[in-house]
Amino acid sequence: MRESIQSEWRFPPGVTYLNHGSFGPAPQSVESVRLDLLGELNRQPMDFFVGGFEERLAMARRRLAHWLGSAAENFVFVENATYAMNLVATGFRIEPDEHVLLTDHEYGAVHRIWSRWIGEERVRTAAVRLDVESDEQLVDELFGEVREQTKLLVVSHITSATAAVLPVEQICRRAQQQGLAVCVDGPHGVAQFDLNLDRLGCDYYTASCHKWLSAPFGSGFLYARPNRQSQVLPIAQSWGRLYPELLSEWNWDDEFVWTGTRDPTPLLTIPAAIDFLAQFGFAEFREQCVGLAQYAQRRIDSVTGLTPPRLVVNRPSMMALCPLPPGDQLSFQRALRQRFGIAALVTSWNGLRFLRVSCHLYNDQQQIDRLADAVRQLL
Ligand SMILES: Cc1ncc(COP(=O)(O)O)c(C=O)c1O
Repeated sequence: MRESIQSEWRFPPGVTYLNHGSFGPAPQSVESVRLDLLGELNRQPMDFFVGGFEERLAMARRRLAHWLGSAAENFVFVENATYAMNLVATGFRIEPDEHVLLTDHEYGAVHRIWSRWIGEERVRTAAVRLDVESDEQLVDELFGEVREQTKLLVVSHITSATAAVLPVEQICRRAQQQGLAVCVDGPHGVAQFDLNLDRLGCDYYTASCHKWLSAPFGSGFLYARPNRQSQVLPIAQSWGRLYPELLSEWNWDDEFVWTGTRDPTPLLTIPAAIDFLAQFGFAEFREQCVGLAQYAQRRIDSVTGLTPPRLVVNRPSMMALCPLPPGDQLSFQRALRQRFGIAALVTSWNGLRFLRVSCHLYNDQQQIDRLADAVRQLL
């Protein structure tokens, strides 16, 4: 089973790919579903777009929504998590003396998005310590930064540069008690966790299915609770539905079906990506990839002799975060690729340098051993 699943991904010879967390390539069988759709689109675009495209998109959205524990009406398809976060920020109503609170682990683009749309002076940052002892302490410290003027909390499900799983369940629960809105930046949450977005209780969830779910690139979504939806409209206004005059009532999700002519095949392929992992077994997928990431954590840490952040090891994910001694981020990353054929991400956060190792179904312990050996030589 392991070998047949590994052969679903074909990397160039000599490449060890350990960065699914940034760019998750689709397995061959998912990619071939997408290529069939693309062929159909190119052969007769009129039939494709006018004859059944909207129904197909609705089916894909229903499938995704049910898998994520909600209804299709609460989802819109977009290209990626970045676009989804922009949607939330453009529509978010905020008074001049109010602000949005982000943790200091949020993705760099997310800071830029909020600064652009609501103004830098209305974006505040709350520090989350890497050596925090428990989820309770983290939540207490985070809410210690919440003021009366705080209108929204933006938190990653798993952070980018520090690969930390944040306790979003507890954060949403506390925020609800205080009447505070929460936007979860979740591209690393989809497929890594068994999600039920309605139960989670966030106001918004932004994500890309082209990360851990391994759908084709360009497949993202925004989830919004019903009371938030009317504020969130497409950035590029178009028809909404192909024939809007036939609709009897306004629906939020209708606004996003036709946002100009584009290639929708990555979105239509999402159900095939869900099927692919379901066939392998979600529980097995999670166990295997988290287990390998823990192996990577141990192997690399034993080479560097450095202690991994408590925030990361307390809640393991499919990404290991291994501290590196101080030094240049990009030159280490380039050396791994050029001298050893290893594609892995080197991150930096608050002056610290980390090697982030993503583990998916095509990775194995021999690859991690090669990485550990490469790190030893480079240090
Ligand atoms: C936490 C986090 N948020 C947002 C993004 C943006 O995802 P995308 O490039 O798919 O829009 C990333 C990408 O790595 C990320 O790690």
